[in-house]
Amino acid sequence: MRWILGIETSCDETSAAVLEGRTVRSSVVASQAALHAQWGGVVPEAAARQHVERLNPVLQQALDEAGIRLQQIDAVAVTNRPGLVGALVVGLAAAKALAFVLNKPLVGVNHLEGHLYSAFLTEPDAPIPFPHLALVVSGGHTELILARGHGDYRLLGHTLDDAAGEAFDKTARLLHLGYPGGPEIDRRAQQGNPKAFPFPRARVAEWHFSFSGLKTAVRREVERLQQGNALTEAVKNDLCASFQQAVIDALIEKTMAAVRAASVETLTVVGGVAANSALQRQMRAACDKAGVNLKIPPPKYCTDNAAMIALAGYFRLLSGERADYDLDAYANAPLGDFSNTSR
Ligand code: KG4
Ligand code: ZN
Repeated sequence: MRWILGIETSCDETSAAVLEGRTVRSSVVASQAALHAQWGGVVPEAAARQHVERLNPVLQQALDEAGIRLQQIDAVAVTNRPGLVGALVVGLAAAKALAFVLNKPLVGVNHLEGHLYSAFLTEPDAPIPFPHLALVVSGGHTELILARGHGDYRLLGHTLDDAAGEAFDKTARLLHLGYPGGPEIDRRAQQGNPKAFPFPRARVAEWHFSFSGLKTAVRREVERLQQGNALTEAVKNDLCASFQQAVIDALIEKTMAAVRAASVETLTVVGGVAANSALQRQMRAACDKAGVNLKIPPPKYCTDNAAMIALAGYFRLLSGERADYDLDAYANAPLGDFSNTSR
């Protein structure tokens, strides 16, 4: 199994990638952020339509950049869950058609499992360290997952309400900072004071998270400032820095406690929010202090991409997993639920 084609269309990135074994030979991502910015969030129907328009050129570019022809592909890995079903179906239809025409194996990948493997895309020659703990922080997920082996996961904790990325996006919308909000809040926070506003740090049981209280606290503060005509650009920067710090404090405190409880030596932080510069810096400091090996992918692999899907698919294919042509798309799917596949 030399050349693996990965396809990812679960949300608002149309992506295709080619792996040679574990090595990324191309990773093409067409972001729909500009399209959805007008609505301040992803509109599912529009996302699906844009995937239809863009997937073929993205696939062609991935093959061209890898320097191979379609006929050389040995297997196809595609995200089939969880995600926007209309969006998933576009990638799934293409993957099935390609696997059928080429008469090559097809495998369905859980998007979260893709994020877990994203931490290992840049080290194709190093063994994947098991067990390790993964903090998945994206627009749709905030989860602490103990990875015990390939395909062997235990969900330790999750958000009880908003995902971390969702909190970034909602706060950005409140401040009219555009979509997606994470990168702009990250940028503004660098010019703001993280102690300017004492936003609440939710105390949540076990290994779970909660960000809706924080979101409400920011909204109240913004309304108060607007009434007093005091929402200047400098104050917005302070709000961004204070909000961001509250998220980071919650993530780091819980994650480091879970690292200790699980006695793992390696922590990965993956998903779009893992691209946050302050989170990276502070998590690295916490891990250095605790003697924990921290792996965070480069920003292009933090956000959604097909290379991580291809890598997760690679290990599933190695274990003998094959999907049938009736492989379906699912809006919700926990890790470990592998219906519609056969071994
Ligand atoms: O992993 P991802 O591309 O998509 C999902 O699977 O959800 O994550 C997207 C999320 C968005 O909420 C976006 O605002 C956030 O990641 N994000 C960031 C940063 N870059 C992207 N959040 C904070 N700081 C960033 N630098
Ligand atoms: Zn994602």
